[in-house]
Amino acid sequence: MQQPDFKSPKLSRITITELMIPSYTNFGGKIHGGVILSLMDKVAYVCASRHARAYCVTASIDTVDFLESVEVGELVSLKASINYTGRSSMVVGIRVESENVKNNIAKHTNTSYFTMVAKDDRHQSMQVPGLILETEEEIRRFMESVKRKQLKQTMKIETQQIKTSFNLPEAIRLLQKERCVINRRD
Ligand SMILES: CC(C)(COP(=O)(O)OP(=O)(O)OC[C@H]1O[C@@H](n2cnc3c(N)ncnc32)[C@H](O)[C@@H]1OP(=O)(O)O)[C@@H](O)C(=O)NCCC(=O)NCCS
Repeated sequence: MQQPDFKSPKLSRITITELMIPSYTNFGGKIHGGVILSLMDKVAYVCASRHARAYCVTASIDTVDFLESVEVGELVSLKASINYTGRSSMVVGIRVESENVKNNIAKHTNTSYFTMVAKDDRHQSMQVPGLILETEEEIRRFMESVKRKQLKQTMKIETQQIKTSFNLPEAIRLLQKERCVINRRD
């Protein structure tokens, strides 16, 4: 089917809501972080495949900071929208909120960015429609995604440099400021 070249993020925006039940808890009696991650992956998939009208895979997840714990009986809502499109990749921004249904108080538990890649029937990455940015917020989100992509690339290069130009005496000197004991056995 012929794909439109550009689409508005509002056409793929989605919210999913799920009640937190006792079987989702961890040893501390709170909702397991993995349950929230799994829901985030689901909403990212729906949002990306709606935009691409194709099967999509999760390529990477940009930092998930759990700001608040989630309790049994709360209603978790995950809002997702496409923030950025490349050729075959899409950045899906996800905001997670948890609502105590008894007192109607909602808390923001985390925000994260999933990079999803669209695949064709031969499992090759395929071109997705670009974005029509219609609001200041959509332009800002797109810009933030571009910046995050650049920073990720810089971090990759700098981390690789530690590997390729590793200098043990220099590392030992730098690590004196960190909370570790060097007790070499090699
Ligand atoms: C992610 C994946 C599709 C990338 O494949 P690839 O052969 O590197 O594909 P390409 O080089 O054509 O890259 C495709 C796109 O993915 C992006 N991409 C690849 N790896 C990425 C990463 N780690 N983070 C963000 N984007 C990434 C590329 O920038 C490219 O974007 P663009 O088309 O918008 O420019 C491939 O590694 C894959 O299928 N991984 C498994 C995904 C999966 O199973 N996920 C579920 C986890 S259980």
